[in-house]
Amino acid sequence: MVARVIPVEKFDLVIFGATGDLARRKILPGLYRRWKEGQIPEGAAIIGAARSEMSRAEFQAQVTSALEEFLPKDELQPDVLAGFMDMLGYVAIDARGEGGWQALGEHMREGVVRAFYFSVAPSLFGDLAQRLHQRGIADRDSRIVVEKPFGKDLQTARALNQVLAEYFHEDQIYRIDHYLGKETVQNLMAVRFANILFEPLWNAQFVDHVQITVAETVGVDGRGEYYDNSGAMRDMVQNHLMQLLCLIAMEPPHCFEPDAMRDEKLKVIRALDPLRPGDYVRGQYRGNGGADYLTEAGNPESRTESFIAMKLHVSNWRWKGTPFYLRTGKRLKSRVSEIAITFKEPPHSIFGESNLWRENVLVIRLQPDEGMDLRVMIKEPGPGGMRLKDVALDMSFAEALGNDLYVPDAYERLIMDVIRGNQTLFMRGDEVEAAWAWVDPIIEGWETRGDRPEPYDPGSTGPEGALMLMHKDGRRWREIR
Ligand code: BG6
Repeated sequence: MVARVIPVEKFDLVIFGATGDLARRKILPGLYRRWKEGQIPEGAAIIGAARSEMSRAEFQAQVTSALEEFLPKDELQPDVLAGFMDMLGYVAIDARGEGGWQALGEHMREGVVRAFYFSVAPSLFGDLAQRLHQRGIADRDSRIVVEKPFGKDLQTARALNQVLAEYFHEDQIYRIDHYLGKETVQNLMAVRFANILFEPLWNAQFVDHVQITVAETVGVDGRGEYYDNSGAMRDMVQNHLMQLLCLIAMEPPHCFEPDAMRDEKLKVIRALDPLRPGDYVRGQYRGNGGADYLTEAGNPESRTESFIAMKLHVSNWRWKGTPFYLRTGKRLKSRVSEIAITFKEPPHSIFGESNLWRENVLVIRLQPDEGMDLRVMIKEPGPGGMRLKDVALDMSFAEALGNDLYVPDAYERLIMDVIRGNQTLFMRGDEVEAAWAWVDPIIEGWETRGDRPEPYDPGSTGPEGALMLMHKDGRRWREIR
């Protein structure tokens, strides 16, 4: 059965930074796909806004080339493309000055949803918000969408929240963490809260530990300057990994509504213990002649981490005593994101000591090969007595759902949620601030101590120290295959 697509309301969507990388790579291809699937109604308008002077036709040509670059050829059917082009408009705008704002105002129509996507440097958020508000282009029902990085520490995040709050209410602000838009990340909520099976075991009494891995094969080439000022902690942990941790550790919300969800996630972040000095390992890929972080980052002195592994404790009734091990890094052996929940040993074995016991593990594969498997013990077939063996109850979504499996890109889902006015998959201001409040002292500690990351080979599974982090607890990381 193919999922039914419910069209959204008619809208005017303005993309500031419409000629930038994110718009070309994600936002415009995502919108095209939603149009192709019939979710965007006739009469919707997408208005590109950027610094360069260009005509509407020139903008349309740029968008066509972006779609050609970032979508498979067979998705670009001429009639669908022509309809999409009809929706596009363009205004050259000066974010800090007066140019273009009147023209933008003239584009906006009464009686349709107005959304403004700030796909620009955060230093421009305040200018855009102010002009939209003061010129009456945005009204009380309008929505603004902001991208990460949302600040680089608590102070800067707070300042951004404050400047946006001068002109917009919290229910108008959509802070994107694209991990929340991933189909498989949303599936975490379904697995936990739509099944009776797991919830009774989902606590420190039955869970030995949790592993969250987001491994990438790409390096920082091309965005070295940004990355070198961020590192894995700011770039991945403060947002994406923290969100995954929240979805695994949170209490069941009373309903699937934005604030009910976000209240519970916030409680998890606030329950995190400060990270202890021996509980993390930072790494940096160093290649002998191959990919090398210092070269790619353009900073021979860099102490920025391209890898981090750590052990977190959530100090609350449910989780006290169950560690959460997180790791993420660039230029690793393969691209894999997964969450593994390892359960404890049964209290008593009736099968004797000659039988090797293996833990039950629930693995939720976020990407690639989306799916889940549950490792369980069974009797090894054969006449040789009662010998146990662990096997996987393995489900690949692609196999289980066959041809009907359509995994939309995170941005497709998130942009449509903005138009629908649904903030469930977006971060609230206090959530972002709480995450920075936890991260800040850790980074400050590294900086004052002058910590150097441990080198690791590109294409490996990370630094040795990361293995030790688990070994010393008598546990081991799942293999990055
Ligand atoms: C971005 C980070 O937010 O997420 C990148 O800035 C990272 O450094 C990317 O590569 C990973 O996203 P995905 O969807 O490819 O897992």
